[in-house]
Amino acid sequence: MPDRPGRPEKPVLLAPRDMPKRSLKGKAGRLALIHSLAHIELNAVDLTWDLIGRFAHVRLPRSYYDDWVRVGLEEAKHFAMLQERLAKLDATYGDLPAHDGLWQAAQDTGHDLAARLAIIPLVLEARGLDITPPMIEKAREIDDEDTAKCLDIIYRDEKNHVAFGAKWFRFLCDRQGIRPESAFHTYVRRHFRGPLKPPFNDRARSEAGLTPGFYKPLAPLIG
Ligand SMILES: [Fe+2]
Ligand SMILES: [Fe+2]
Repeated sequence: MPDRPGRPEKPVLLAPRDMPKRSLKGKAGRLALIHSLAHIELNAVDLTWDLIGRFAHVRLPRSYYDDWVRVGLEEAKHFAMLQERLAKLDATYGDLPAHDGLWQAAQDTGHDLAARLAIIPLVLEARGLDITPPMIEKAREIDDEDTAKCLDIIYRDEKNHVAFGAKWFRFLCDRQGIRPESAFHTYVRRHFRGPLKPPFNDRARSEAGLTPGFYKPLAPLIG
């Protein structure tokens, strides 16, 4: 697999700390939000195919590949939907700068499938489950029903992506005879900077098989 996926000349990629803050307010804010979501989905396409191709040396059942091919198709659908939203706002993917943090996370875990599953589906995509419902609400508040619908579909699909992550992470841990929760803690502390941010969408996470024993011990103590 190549170290980096092929990418269009634009958007310009910035360090995450140099990215402008985004909000749903105003047309410019909405555009920035949809653009950043499109960028995440494009990365998700590459990350999924990387998950399929990079770990081909690991002995895995056929259903592992079936699951992730389905995810790869859904990520492409998400990108296409958001690109369509951008077009409605007279914009296109590449008009704004984007950050390179997601691919960085992938490179850090390129040597170890369990670490990759811990960080990408079980930390980053699980975080999507926490933050998407409030985003849908905000889109509805400003009567942007088209964006809300788009995010609804993404939210529903992403629950499955986290579920596949949890399923295959448990599979790898079972095979090694290690406890999945403590293995997860080790990988996240090694490959992810900082604590996991509450509030958590406990219900959606649990439905995806990501029970609190995985993420609660990695959250900061409050009060
Ligand atoms: Fe997605
Ligand atoms: Fe996803």
